[in-house]
Amino acid sequence: MSKDIVKIGNQTLPSSAEVFAKNWQMYQKILKHNYIRHKEMYDILHQFILNYPAKSFSFLDLGCGDLSTITPCLVDSNIYSYIGVDLSPQALEIAQKNITYIPGEKRLITGNIKDVVQELVSTKNLKFDIVFSSYTIHHLSTLDKQNLINDIWQILNPNSCFIFIDTFREEGESRDRYLAKYWQNINKNWFSLTKDEIYLAITHMKNCDFPETENTILNQVKNAGFSKCEFIYRDQEHPGYLLVCYK
Ligand SMILES: C[S@@+](CC[C@H](N)C(=O)[O-])C[C@H]1O[C@@H](n2cnc3c(N)ncnc32)[C@H](O)[C@@H]1O
Repeated sequence: MSKDIVKIGNQTLPSSAEVFAKNWQMYQKILKHNYIRHKEMYDILHQFILNYPAKSFSFLDLGCGDLSTITPCLVDSNIYSYIGVDLSPQALEIAQKNITYIPGEKRLITGNIKDVVQELVSTKNLKFDIVFSSYTIHHLSTLDKQNLINDIWQILNPNSCFIFIDTFREEGESRDRYLAKYWQNINKNWFSLTKDEIYLAITHMKNCDFPETENTILNQVKNAGFSKCEFIYRDQEHPGYLLVCYK
């Protein structure tokens, strides 16, 4: 891996990141075919960023992947600093090319998002106007999600926001029921994946996906201290949302 990528904390891959470390081309197919609605989410995110009131802003991306979806939202924005954090060497390799299109200062960090954010909290010398995380936080346990969101609040500047894209369970829906519904969708619609890739995707979800209900997430962001939250997109077919939490 290039020396331009800074290492922070423990580099051990949690099981949640394994599939993304070894099978990035499978995730690229998911992006290309818009199976989890990146297009709709990121079109709205792009508009949000273009209308962001600050003259210029710093942006921390937790679980940044290869940057292929976030770069188009930032190329024409007033960003002055971008930091992307991930643990997948395959994704970060591609990210090194995509990051060149983002204006301003930029840096990639390889590390566990929990360690990196904790480190930022303890060093106290770097704060952000936007902290963003897309389809990553559902890999954490309920307690780790709360701890991470508490830490995110601490590394945000005043009048800033945490933007959160993720998948959710319906109120009262068990994790087993959520997974069963999701797998039905994968088997029915994810045509571009090979049989082996479908098996990988399903096994990854079984071992590593712990989506919360919207109410649990709203309580967690409230507990962390966020004053106002707004779902600016909810998909009708895929259980995904785009939530903005204001500090
Ligand atoms: C589903 S992908 C999302 C990538 C991108 N944000 C997007 O929306 O397309 C999840 C990403 O989070 C990374 N990831 C998962 N758990 C992580 C952790 N604890 N620390 C750092 N990265 C993690 C994976 O390597 C992967 O790149």
